[in-house]
Amino acid sequence: MKPTTTLLLLLAGACFCLGNPLLGLVDPSCFVATAGVCPNENVTFWLYSNATRDDPIQLNPIDLNPWDFQPSRPLKILLHGYTGHRDFAPNNHIRPALLDNEDVYVISIDYGPLVRNPCYVQAVRNLPLVSKCLAQLINNLVERGIVPHELIHIIGFSLGGQVAGQTSNYLNRKPKRITGLDPAKPLFILGSNTRRLDPSDAEFVDVIHTDTLGRGMMRPLGHVDFYPNFGPLQPGCMEENPNDPGSCNHERAPRFYAKSINSSLGFWGRQCSSWLVHLFGLCSTRSTLALMGYHVSQQLSGSFFLKTLSQPPYAMGKPVEEDNSKYVAKFHLSSKHNEIENDFEPELGESIPELEDNDVDTNELEKQLIWQEALDEPLF
Ligand SMILES: *[C@@H]1O[C@H](CO)[C@@H](O)[C@H](O)[C@H]1NC(C)=O
Ligand SMILES: *[C@@H]1O[C@H](CO)[C@@H](O)[C@H](O)[C@H]1NC(C)=O
Ligand SMILES: *[C@@H]1O[C@H](CO)[C@@H](O)[C@H](O)[C@H]1NC(C)=O
Repeated sequence: MKPTTTLLLLLAGACFCLGNPLLGLVDPSCFVATAGVCPNENVTFWLYSNATRDDPIQLNPIDLNPWDFQPSRPLKILLHGYTGHRDFAPNNHIRPALLDNEDVYVISIDYGPLVRNPCYVQAVRNLPLVSKCLAQLINNLVERGIVPHELIHIIGFSLGGQVAGQTSNYLNRKPKRITGLDPAKPLFILGSNTRRLDPSDAEFVDVIHTDTLGRGMMRPLGHVDFYPNFGPLQPGCMEENPNDPGSCNHERAPRFYAKSINSSLGFWGRQCSSWLVHLFGLCSTRSTLALMGYHVSQQLSGSFFLKTLSQPPYAMGKPVEEDNSKYVAKFHLSSKHNEIENDFEPELGESIPELEDNDVDTNELEKQLIWQEALDEPLF
């Protein structure tokens, strides 16, 4: 696609994809668990292994049974997003793929009651509780010697990606690896990194971005960030869900990740200094190639771009592209001089106020949201 066409599509594809958060402010079923304690009845942990894949064990974070984790195996912890539950994305895609291919334990967390529709604003404010309860479980597993620290890998989708980052705030030891699958954007653009997934949250943080203009973050959040089919629409999503292609875009991240666990071709991305440079078609087609997903190299850093198929198995292997070094050289780009400010996030949701304290001024929020929905100005 020509860079200018992509730019136009980016502008056209911009949307305010939060639904209507005002509904949540008047809905009596929406609540913020302000005085929530861990363990909490609304944050539950379900342990799966190949042998118990249809009959998981519910864990008690303060009374763990070491035998549940024998023999010793890597532990993958999966976190769903807004409106999710333990069988919702990424669990339904990634859990079977892991259990089919590797000898691992999987813990699927369920915090569905805290992130129900239409309660997005309250859901975001419930995440610190979820993070604390997950940290309590991990701290107990590690401190009691039940699971070695280096075998733990946290994988979070959407709001779950941000939970993974926040969990790090409460852990006694920085986790080995966090994977963020299209970490959620609304209400996470502003504010500090303590609320948002960032590279300081684990020894290695890998991120896949698939709905950069809607529900997911555009800016890099990890040591390594992959942008499949960078742009407003993932291939196949208009056909799959014409009414809401954004939710399909968003869910492509866990689908790609699940397929990356056992892909013979592999999802190979090419490095580029930033998404903006990529957008203008100025990435060198000779730069470093790297494998996205489960088998990503933990020595990597930077942003990588790739194309995928519109259907499973999605992966296209290594890209074949012609040498564009002469064209790119005309623009005198070097990797040092073409970085874009990290804070630059072209999304209308930026004007949503941050909700750090417990006393949300609903009138103020309402004013801002109404103003926002009327807004139809271009992004840049
Ligand atoms: C999972 O269990 C099935 C049968 O119970 C077995 O055939 C398969 O090899 C196991 N997979 C792994 C990865 O251990
Ligand atoms: C758990 O969620 C329910 C709503 O589904 C709520 O009524 C209850 O107070 C919550 N419990 C805690 C401990 O927050
Ligand atoms: C995919 O699975 C097959 C059969 O279980 C195995 O031989 C192969 O090594 C796996 N490939 C990857 C990349 O894990």
